[in-house]
Amino acid sequence: MSKSGLPEGFLWGGATAANQCEGGYSEGGRGLANVDVIPRGEDRFPVMLGKKKMFELDEEHYFPALEAIDMYHRYKEDIALFGEMGFKTYRLSIAWSRIFPKGDESEPNEEGLQFYENIFKECKKHGIEPLVTITHFDCPMHLITEYGGWKNRKLIGFYENLCRVLFTRYKDLVKYWLTFNEINMIMHLPFLGAGLYFEDGENEEAVKYLAAHHELVASAAATKIAHEINPDFKIGCMLAAGNTYAKTCNPEDIWKSMEKDRENYFFIDVQARGEYPSYALKELERKNIDIGITEEDKQLLKEHTVDFISFSYYSSRLTSAEPEEEQTEGNVFATLRNPYLQASEWGWQIDPLGLRITMNAIYDRYQKPLFIVENGLGAVDIPDENGNIEDDYRIDYLKAHLKAMKDAVNIDGVDLWGYTSWGCIDLVSASTGEMKKRYGFIYVDKDNEGNGTLKRTKKKSFEWYKEVIATNGANL
Ligand code: BG6
Repeated sequence: MSKSGLPEGFLWGGATAANQCEGGYSEGGRGLANVDVIPRGEDRFPVMLGKKKMFELDEEHYFPALEAIDMYHRYKEDIALFGEMGFKTYRLSIAWSRIFPKGDESEPNEEGLQFYENIFKECKKHGIEPLVTITHFDCPMHLITEYGGWKNRKLIGFYENLCRVLFTRYKDLVKYWLTFNEINMIMHLPFLGAGLYFEDGENEEAVKYLAAHHELVASAAATKIAHEINPDFKIGCMLAAGNTYAKTCNPEDIWKSMEKDRENYFFIDVQARGEYPSYALKELERKNIDIGITEEDKQLLKEHTVDFISFSYYSSRLTSAEPEEEQTEGNVFATLRNPYLQASEWGWQIDPLGLRITMNAIYDRYQKPLFIVENGLGAVDIPDENGNIEDDYRIDYLKAHLKAMKDAVNIDGVDLWGYTSWGCIDLVSASTGEMKKRYGFIYVDKDNEGNGTLKRTKKKSFEWYKEVIATNGANL
C-alpha cells in the first residue's frame, strides 16, 4: 500500500471513445457507422432516440464525428502527452467499422487492425496499459440498414466475430477489455446505444429489451471467447452509474428510487451474477414482452460472468413518486434538481459523495472488483491572452471526487482497480455534439462549428493530474 492508501499498481489514466476523437471516418477502409450520422444541432436528439431516420450523411447537417479531434492522424502526439502525465492506463474504444466495415464480412480489414496495433504499441512505449472498450456506441451502418441493429439476434454472431479477431490479434498487447460502453444507454438513446430505429406503432420498450438481451448474450459470449484465447484477460461490463436518491422519506419516494436503480442494475445483475433478476422477469411478463431467452442463453450467461465491473459516474440522481415534479435539463437520465447540489454549466449536478455512495452500492451488491472508467467535468475553457487555460474549476471537481473515491477504498474497503477520467483530451460531446463542452487536461483548438487548428495545449490541470499520479493519489 502507498501513502494514499491506494494499492501499488493502481491504474490511473484517462478515457476516450473512437467516435468522439478519431475522425478519419472514411480512411483506412473504414465503413460508415451510426455514430457518424448523428448531427450536431436540433436533430441530434431525435436521431439518437431512433425517432428521426438518418442513415447517411447529407449537406444540410454538420456531423462532428467525421473529423472529431483527428486522433486518427495525431495519436502519437496525444499518447506522448498521456505518457508525460504518467498515465498507467489509457481507455480507448475500437471503431467496429474499421475492423469490419460492413459488420457481416467473414474477413477483417487489415488496415483497421494495424491502426489499433500501432496505437497499442505506442501505449506500451510510454508504459501505458491499454483498456479497450470493444464497442463505445458504434454499430456499422450496414448492420442497421440490413438487419435493424441489435434488435436482430444475428448481431450476436457478428459481434462474436469481431471479438474473436480482436482477442486473437491483440492477445499479448491488451489485457483489460470492456464489452459494451454504458450498456444501460440502450434504454435512453437507443439509436446511439444499439443502432435501433423505430417504425410508427412499434412497441419501443419491447424492442429495447430484446436488443438489450442480445447485447447481454453477446457480452457473455465475448467473455467466454476471451478467456479461451487468453485466460489472463480481464473482461468487464460498463454501467452508466449514479445512485438514485429519494426526494423525501415518504416510502412511496423510497420505493420509486429503488425502482429507478433497478432499471440500471438489471444489466449488471445479468452480467455479474449470470441470470435475469426476478424483478425484471416479472416486469417483462407483466408487460407481455418476450425477449426469447433460450436454455443456451441461460447457460452462457450463468457460466461467463464478468471479471470486474466498470462504470461512469458524473452525478447522482433524484426521484419522486409525484409525477408532476420538474426534471432538470441536460441529463440523458431524468433526474430532479437536488437543492443540496451545485450543477455544471450543462445542468449536470455535482455530487462527489455520490461517487462513494455509488461505489459502495455496486460493491455491496456484486462483490467484484470495480473500475471507474469515466468521471469528469464538462466545462467551457477560455484561453487567456497567452493561450493558457487556468481550469481550477476542473481541478476542484476532480479533487473532490478523488477524495470520495479514496474514502470508498480506505474507509469502506471497496476493491478498486483504477480510475480513468473522461475526455482526458478535449473531444466531441456525446450528448450535444459540441466541442465547447470540454473535459480534458489537454485543450484542443477546435470550435462547435468545426473551425480551429486542432493544436494541443496543456491546461493547468495537466500538471495537477501528473502530480496526483506521481504520488499515487496522495497529493490531490
Ligand atoms: C458517457 C459516455 O455517457 O458520458 C461518453 O460514455 C460521454 O461517451 C460522456 O462523452 C460525457 O457526456 P457528454 O455528453 O458530456 O459528452
